[in-house]
Amino acid sequence: MEYLKPFAVDLDLVRGVLENPATRIVRRASSMRGHYADAEALERIIAAGDPVHYEVAEQPVPESPGQLRFGISTTLAGTVGEECFMTKGHYHAVADTAEIYLGLRGEGYMLMKTPEGECVWEKFVPGRLIYVPSFWGHRSVNTGSEPLVSFYVYPGNAGHNYGDIEKEGFPVRIFKRGGKIEFIRSRRQQHG
Ligand code: PA5
Ligand code: NI
Repeated sequence: MEYLKPFAVDLDLVRGVLENPATRIVRRASSMRGHYADAEALERIIAAGDPVHYEVAEQPVPESPGQLRFGISTTLAGTVGEECFMTKGHYHAVADTAEIYLGLRGEGYMLMKTPEGECVWEKFVPGRLIYVPSFWGHRSVNTGSEPLVSFYVYPGNAGHNYGDIEKEGFPVRIFKRGGKIEFIRSRRQQHG
């Protein structure tokens, strides 16, 4: 039997930084095409320098059901045509797998949806733990003015299903207008 060796990593809970992550995924505005309501505003942002929208720092573990994948997700502050910066969002490839997020810094919402189109959100603030149950698609949205940083952990075999979320979109979008946060029901048709 090949055992995974126990290990430890250092997490700066104030800055929300995982020290020396083995992998870092960086998503810029140009990888967010199709996700924001105002496609032209997104193109202007891409042309003006293609800023980072979010980053994920992870310490990979084997993708088996008994292991736990974990890392830090950082969504930067900003808007695209008044819609708050957000992650692409996904279901898990193994849909019957849950995930826990712990807010470390900043403020925003975890937007969650079922394949049938039910949509709920939970406020993200430091110290708040958000339980994303099996089968719920999830997306982080930064409504504040500093990075929204969270720690996450989920089963090693869960994987990501981005395709269905790209097709469906989320039923609700979050905007910041004149400093006020607004939840707007999307006009896009829901599947299922
Ligand atoms: O596993 C998760 O849910 C997170 O690590 C996300 O992958 C991370 O927040 C980035 O979002 P997305 O995978 O939707 O691009
Ligand atoms: Ni997930």
